[in-house]
Amino acid sequence: MHIPVLLKEVLDGLAIKKGEIFLDCTAGAGGHCGAVCRQLGSSIKIVAIDQDEDAIARAKEELFPCDGVCKVGNFRNLGRILDETGINQPNKILFDLGLSSNQLEESHRGFSFQKNEPLLMTFEKNPLDYRATAAGIVNSWSQEEIADILLRFGEERQARKIAEAIVAERKRQPITTSQQLAELVAKIVPRGKIQPATKTFQALRIAVNDELNILIEGLRQSFQRLAPNGRLAVISFHRLEDRIVKNFFRDKDKEKLGKILTKKPVTPTAEEIARNRRARSAKLRIIEKI
Ligand SMILES: C[S@@+](CC[C@H](N)C(=O)[O-])C[C@H]1O[C@@H](n2cnc3c(N)ncnc32)[C@H](O)[C@@H]1O
Repeated sequence: MHIPVLLKEVLDGLAIKKGEIFLDCTAGAGGHCGAVCRQLGSSIKIVAIDQDEDAIARAKEELFPCDGVCKVGNFRNLGRILDETGINQPNKILFDLGLSSNQLEESHRGFSFQKNEPLLMTFEKNPLDYRATAAGIVNSWSQEEIADILLRFGEERQARKIAEAIVAERKRQPITTSQQLAELVAKIVPRGKIQPATKTFQALRIAVNDELNILIEGLRQSFQRLAPNGRLAVISFHRLEDRIVKNFFRDKDKEKLGKILTKKPVTPTAEEIARNRRARSAKLRIIEKI
C-alpha cells in the first residue's frame, strides 16, 4: 500500500479552497488527491493525471465521491491534457515525483532491485521499443554511454567499473532481469547505508523515462497554466530532481512571476520516516504565482 508522503504539509501548503481547481500531475495511488477529495468533497474540481494506467485506476476509486477527472498521460503533455478536459487555469498543482510503492511492489517492470522481474523500468506495460527499456540500455549501449548515465543520473562513484562488468556479462549472456543486474552491481559496490544497486537503478530509470527533461517541461507548462495567486507544490526524492525544482522556482522568483513559500525545502518528521521509510529523502517546495 502506498502511503502519501508529506500529506499534511502538502494540504497546509496548498491551502485549497472551495470553488478551486486542483491538478494532481502524479496521481499514483490517489493518496494526495484522495485526501483533498475527502477534505473538500464536491466543492472543488480535481484533475488527476498519471502515465501509468494501473495508477489511474486506483486514483479513480479514491476520487469516486468527488467532481474528478482522471487522465492517463505524461505530464510533459500537461497543456494538451488540460485542453482536452476543458480546464484553462488550475488554482493548485501538485507533483509528487518518482514511483509509488505499488509500482515498486507489483508492477512487474523491474523497478525494484529486490525483485526478480523483466528489466523494463518503463511506465507502459508493453513498451513498443525494446531499445528504450533498461534491458535495451544495458545490452546494447556502449560501455562509455552506460558509464556516463550511471555517473550523471545516479551519481554512482563506481560507474566505470559497473559499466565494464555489464559489458563483460552481456558477452556471456544478455542481462534481462532486475535480479541479474542487482547481483552484478552488488559484486562491485560495497554495502553501505543504501543498497548497492540503488544508484544504478535510479540512473537507468531516469534515462529510460527521460525524467529530468520531462520534469523541466512539466514545471514550465504547469506554471504557465497556473491561475494568478495559484500555488505549485513539488515533492522530489533525489538531488537531481530537487536541483531542477529549486532553480526553476528561484528563476520565477527573480523574474517577479512567483513568490517562493518554502525558503528551505520542507522535509518529513522523524515520526513520518519511522512510519514510512519511503519518505526519508522527500523534499517539498512550494511557489505562489504572482
Ligand atoms: C510517488 S507516486 C505518486 C503518489 C501519489 N501522490 C499518492 O500519494 O498516491 C508518483 C507517480 O507519478 C507518476 N509519474 C511519474 N512520472 C510521470 C510523468 N512524467 N507523467 C505522469 N505521471 C508520472 C508515476 O507513474 C507514479 O504513479
